[in-house]
Amino acid sequence: MFRFRVSLATVLLSLLTGAVAQDANTTACQSNLTMAGAAPNNTKVLILGGGMAGVIAARTLHEQGIDDFVIVEAKHVFGGRMAQTTFGVNGSQYVLEKGPNWVHGTQTGSGPANPVWLLAQKHNLSMVQSDLFSNICVFDVYAIRCFHLPFFDYNGPNDYSATFNASLTAFNNAIVLAGERWQQNKTDLDLRSAYNYMGVAPKTPQEQACEYYQIDYDASQTSTLAAAWNYNYTFVPEAGGFSDVDMLCVDQRGFACIVQAEAATFLNTSQVLFNQIVKTIQYNQNGVTVQTTDGYNLTADHALVTFSAGVLQNTDVVFDPVLPDWKREAISSIEMPVYTKIFLQFEKKFWFDTGVGLYADQQRGRYPIWESLDLPGLFNGSGIIFVTVTGDYANYLEQLNKNITQVQLEVMEVLRRMYPDAPDPIDIWLPMWGRDPLFRGSYSNWGASFVPEHAYNLSVPVNGHLWFAGEATSVKYFGFLHGAYLEGQNAANNIAACIKNPQRCPPTT
Ligand SMILES: Cc1cc2nc3c(=O)[nH]c(=O)nc-3n(C[C@H](O)[C@H](O)[C@H](O)COP(=O)(O)OP(=O)(O)OC[C@H]3O[C@@H](n4cnc5c(N)ncnc54)[C@H](O)[C@@H]3O)c2cc1C
Ligand SMILES: *[C@@H]1O[C@H](CO)[C@@H](O)[C@H](O)[C@H]1NC(C)=O
Ligand SMILES: *[C@@H]1O[C@H](CO)[C@@H](O)[C@H](O)[C@H]1NC(C)=O
Ligand SMILES: *[C@@H]1O[C@H](CO)[C@@H](O)[C@H](O)[C@H]1NC(C)=O
Ligand SMILES: *[C@@H]1O[C@H](CO)[C@@H](O)[C@H](O)[C@H]1NC(C)=O
Ligand SMILES: *[C@@H]1O[C@H](CO)[C@@H](O)[C@H](O)[C@H]1NC(C)=O
Ligand SMILES: *[C@@H]1O[C@H](CO)[C@@H](O)[C@H](O)[C@H]1NC(C)=O
Ligand SMILES: *[C@@H]1O[C@H](CO)[C@@H](O)[C@H](O)[C@H]1NC(C)=O
Ligand SMILES: *[C@@H]1O[C@H](CO)[C@@H](O)[C@H](O)[C@H]1NC(C)=O
Ligand SMILES: *[C@@H]1O[C@H](CO)[C@@H](O)[C@H](O)[C@H]1NC(C)=O
Ligand SMILES: *[C@@H]1O[C@H](CO)[C@@H](O)[C@H](O)[C@H]1NC(C)=O
Ligand SMILES: *[C@@H]1O[C@H](CO)[C@@H](O)[C@H](O)[C@H]1NC(C)=O
Ligand SMILES: *[C@@H]1O[C@H](CO)[C@@H](O)[C@H](O)[C@H]1NC(C)=O
Repeated sequence: MFRFRVSLATVLLSLLTGAVAQDANTTACQSNLTMAGAAPNNTKVLILGGGMAGVIAARTLHEQGIDDFVIVEAKHVFGGRMAQTTFGVNGSQYVLEKGPNWVHGTQTGSGPANPVWLLAQKHNLSMVQSDLFSNICVFDVYAIRCFHLPFFDYNGPNDYSATFNASLTAFNNAIVLAGERWQQNKTDLDLRSAYNYMGVAPKTPQEQACEYYQIDYDASQTSTLAAAWNYNYTFVPEAGGFSDVDMLCVDQRGFACIVQAEAATFLNTSQVLFNQIVKTIQYNQNGVTVQTTDGYNLTADHALVTFSAGVLQNTDVVFDPVLPDWKREAISSIEMPVYTKIFLQFEKKFWFDTGVGLYADQQRGRYPIWESLDLPGLFNGSGIIFVTVTGDYANYLEQLNKNITQVQLEVMEVLRRMYPDAPDPIDIWLPMWGRDPLFRGSYSNWGASFVPEHAYNLSVPVNGHLWFAGEATSVKYFGFLHGAYLEGQNAANNIAACIKNPQRCPPTT
């Protein structure tokens, strides 16, 4: 019975999305762009990285009439952190998102539109509006729109919804407090200090789990001001944001489809160099030379670096000469924590019928947020649920995952505190963002020592020819896909302006 129902669901999904078989270098949304022939050399612009920021930068140059550029990307597909995996046992497999899953914020009336929301519509991405269904709730850093959580702690079900409500109020008050303090030229506070100042001090496991739900890093490590800007400009229309609506991607072509399909509308093979890892970036007053692991030396007038903050913080890519102090200080100041989803598949669903369940462990951050994908409109009948962990706990988990059985033992120990009769899963898997040398973390975050100058300096070009973009360089939308999109667009517009009119080029030193 179970298998029949699942395969029916799979058939319906593939009819819905037209999913097709994929080979190693081609996806449903990316035509075969495997490079053939000599490496392009001596271009006007090298775009380093083919994630959201890099592809949108390329499209923007193209729109500006500049086609003499090459995207250099380590992987064989576009998308970067937008990446999918096929998960589940034979006969019950689903394309799930290892990385981003939501479009955060859409549009309110004729206010500003989230460009990723527009791109998703352009490419007919299958999405579920999270709050169309009152029983589907979405968890993310600042998404606090679900009031139908089932609550658990280490003794089983326990309704601490009043505690949850209080934590929502505390977070919103912190956002307002940050705005007041900014206006009054007062210093930023880390969230822990802000909460203390407001007389809120989560102590019990239940209080800590509720707080965690809104702040997926250790609260003491997060800047209240940066968090408030990030939240307001994305979710609060009155503060210039898009909307408080979240769209969950359920497209079996993968979320990255929107980047891959967009690239296919304007790129040709000679503008792409896949499977090349950038090793060194040499720059001077005249231009740049980029060396890759395969020994290509690519010269250009300009290079746009879109690698993650985690990559820039490591020595994977060598800058020659070393970046100036102000730039290195900015790169060092942003944080690149890990956010990990652990996917579990069971023979059949035995858990709550809402999108999210909250679990309060005695140890803060231990398997707190459980999200069901086995819901009408999502992957009904899939038997799939996932649990997220972040920060130090996610680092520990990447270590533990040398042996997946160890992870399963821990996760099931917690799940059986929620559901004592839970059977063993039939499949389990987790991505390892922290260990991946192409990312070294999940997405950026500003810590307790946030100084706005550092955020501004991340995107400032170096020596007139070396440019920077990506989610981390966005002061308003760091961490988000729309941050990466808008930063790629902005940098490319500035590069185009400089190419067309040297007087608009940034200073050289
Ligand atoms: C688990 C997870 C969940 C997330 N959830 C959401 C969400 O729901 N909604 C949301 O808006 N955002 C979410 N994000 C954040 C979102 O993924 C990022 O903001 C966005 O994808 C960043 O795009 P980018 O172009 O700046 O960087 P990237 O996608 O990192 O692009 C950089 C590119 O550079 C390449 N590269 C790196 N090093 C080298 C090298 N040495 N040589 C050549 N190429 C190299 C990489 O392969 C990559 O393709 C999530 C991220 C993760 C990891
Ligand atoms: C994919 O790309 C790599 C590197 O360019 C190449 O070696 C491989 O043959 C390609 N695979 C297919 C199926 O085209
Ligand atoms: C992709 O390119 C490779 C190498 O050029 C070629 O062998 C392969 O058949 C192509 N695949 C598709 C789907 O076109
Ligand atoms: C690339 O162009 C530069 C500058 O014209 C030249 O010196 C170099 O030899 C070229 N490299 C290759 C691999 O063609
Ligand atoms: C690809 O684009 C470049 C830049 O516009 C152009 O010079 C080249 O001729 C194009 N190649 C093909 C095969 O269309
Ligand atoms: C899954 O199915 C494929 C094709 O039917 C088969 O080759 C493979 O061995 C199966 N894998 C498992 C784990 O059963
Ligand atoms: C999206 O769907 C519409 C309506 O079915 C169709 O006209 C359009 O061509 C599709 N666009 C893309 C990019 O697939
Ligand atoms: C929590 O807030 C929600 C939404 O405002 C409300 O419906 C619910 O009754 C509150 N619960 C408690 C226990 O206060
Ligand atoms: C965020 O928006 C709220 C509501 O509009 C406002 O009160 C607050 O000052 C804003 N915070 C910041 C840091 O701008
Ligand atoms: C904050 O500082 C700015 C710039 O120094 C100044 O113009 C403004 O009056 C100050 N505001 C307050 C409330 O002190
Ligand atoms: C690239 O440059 C390095 C150092 O300048 C040199 O050793 C190497 O031979 C060059 N490779 C190619 C393919 O030109
Ligand atoms: C979802 O699955 C449940 C059983 O798991 C079934 O009763 C229900 O009809 C399904 N709903 C849809 C919309 O397929
Ligand atoms: C993985 O962990 C399990 C449970 O502790 C253990 O039984 C098994 O021997 C371990 N496997 C390896 C290869 O270490």
